This record gives sequence, C-alpha cells and structure tokens, in this order.
Amino acid sequence: MRRLKRRLDDDALQRLDAAQVAETDDYRLFKYDTADGKVDVELYRRLQTEANKMKIENQWVPEEHIKILSTYLLGAGLNPRRGVCHGTRRGNEQMWFRKHLGPEADVFGTEISDNATDFPHTIQWDFHEVDPAWLGQMDLVYSNSWDHAHSPEVAFAGWIASLRPGGFLMLDHGWNYQPERVSAMDPFGISEDGLVRMLNRLGEGRGSVVEVINGGKHKELPIRTVIYRARG
Ligand SMILES: C[S@@+](CC[C@H](N)C(=O)[O-])C[C@H]1O[C@@H](n2cnc3c(N)ncnc32)[C@H](O)[C@@H]1O
Repeated sequence: MRRLKRRLDDDALQRLDAAQVAETDDYRLFKYDTADGKVDVELYRRLQTEANKMKIENQWVPEEHIKILSTYLLGAGLNPRRGVCHGTRRGNEQMWFRKHLGPEADVFGTEISDNATDFPHTIQWDFHEVDPAWLGQMDLVYSNSWDHAHSPEVAFAGWIASLRPGGFLMLDHGWNYQPERVSAMDPFGISEDGLVRMLNRLGEGRGSVVEVINGGKHKELPIRTVIYRARG
C-alpha cells in the first residue's frame, strides 16, 4: 500500500484516510463511501488502475490452476461455449481457458484499468456492472479478483444472473482472501464458509454452491475454488 500511496495525490490520500471498514462475523469491507453514502467510484477506479499498472508484470494464478478448472468443467459434462473472467490484468486466464476448454470456447475477460485492451480477449469494464447481453448466457464465470470489489454483493448477483441454466460460477479462495487482508487495494475479505453462505443467499432459487475444490497452488500455497452452479 505504501508504494501505491506514493502514486496518489493529496486529495485522493485524504479521501482514503477518511474511509471506514465495515465488519461482520464473516467479512470485512473497506468502504469507498462519499459523505452522502454513495460509493466513490472515481477514487476506486483511480486506485485500482494505479495498482494494476504498478503490478502489470505480475500473474496471480498459474496456468495449471486454469487447467484444473477446465478439466472440472469438461468432466461435469459441460461443453462450455461462452465464458467471462473478471479482473484479468494481462488476459492470461481467458487465454488459458480457451486453450484447455477447446476451440469452441469463447472466453473473454474484464479489466477496469485503461490498459485493458492491450491484452488479448479483454474489455475495459467494471465488473460490478452487467451487460444486459450477458444475462443468462454464460456457461462459465470465473474470478480470482473478487476481493477487489467495493460492493461484492452487487458484483456476485450480476455474475450469478449471467449464468445460463447449468452454468458455473467459480471463485478462488485462499489465504489472501481472508478478512484480515482487507485494504483499499483489496477492499473485500471473507472466510471460505462466509463466501459459500453469501453465494447461496444471493443465488437462492437460481442454484447453489455444489462444492469447494482444491485448485492447485499459488506459489507453495493452496488455492481453493468455490463452485456455484445454476440450476439446469
Ligand atoms: C490481483 S489482480 C489479478 C489479476 C489476474 N486475474 C491474475 O491472476 O493475475 C486483480 C485485477 O483486477 C482488476 N480489477 C480491480 N477491480 C476491478 C473491477 N471492478 N472490474 C474489473 N477489474 C478490476 C485490477 O485492475 C487487477 O488487474
């Protein structure tokens, strides 16, 4: 955070210093609220974009993880044709899903930073918003960046609504998604059980979490993936 703060002006730093963190038994959320209680989307975008550029050479999940998820999807009898990955920085997730799901899989990514379209199959997009053309269309929605959400329930509800019947929402979890990891850069942290409960509540009537799988490793640490499936 210190390196990131050096890239921000005084006005942004003051707004960040005034921010509060909301807490429940399951999660912590860094509140990007303005004085009138709305989300300070301008500050959020600016900060996420600066952080993206600062870390542009980094890749969080390895290809092996996306291969494990692809094998899971194919093993579930799905022949995924359309998919979206949210918060993809260099665009590697969508490239790897395309490679491991096969030539019919049209998988693209969203990225909030203004460099999004420098990367393959990536659109500049805030993942809190849903394009009406995506509703009920996706076989796959994947994210390892959901901890960057300022309004996770809004984002998750949109991702669930994007699923077609039988489609999968796959969200990674692990040490870095825990509540104590919350900061302005990663505003949302929740326990694995809390994430399962939240998805089941938001997606009630449309589907449910079917399992949490071991998704390989990030460096030497385990990645867990929470899998929600829309009713067929
Ligand atoms: C931890 S990085 C992960 C990048 C990539 N998924 C990987 O595995 O390397 C989070 C990414 O999400 C992007 N991001 C943050 N908030 C976003 C939002 N609201 N909509 C879309 N992308 C967002 C950031 O700019 C950053 O590139």
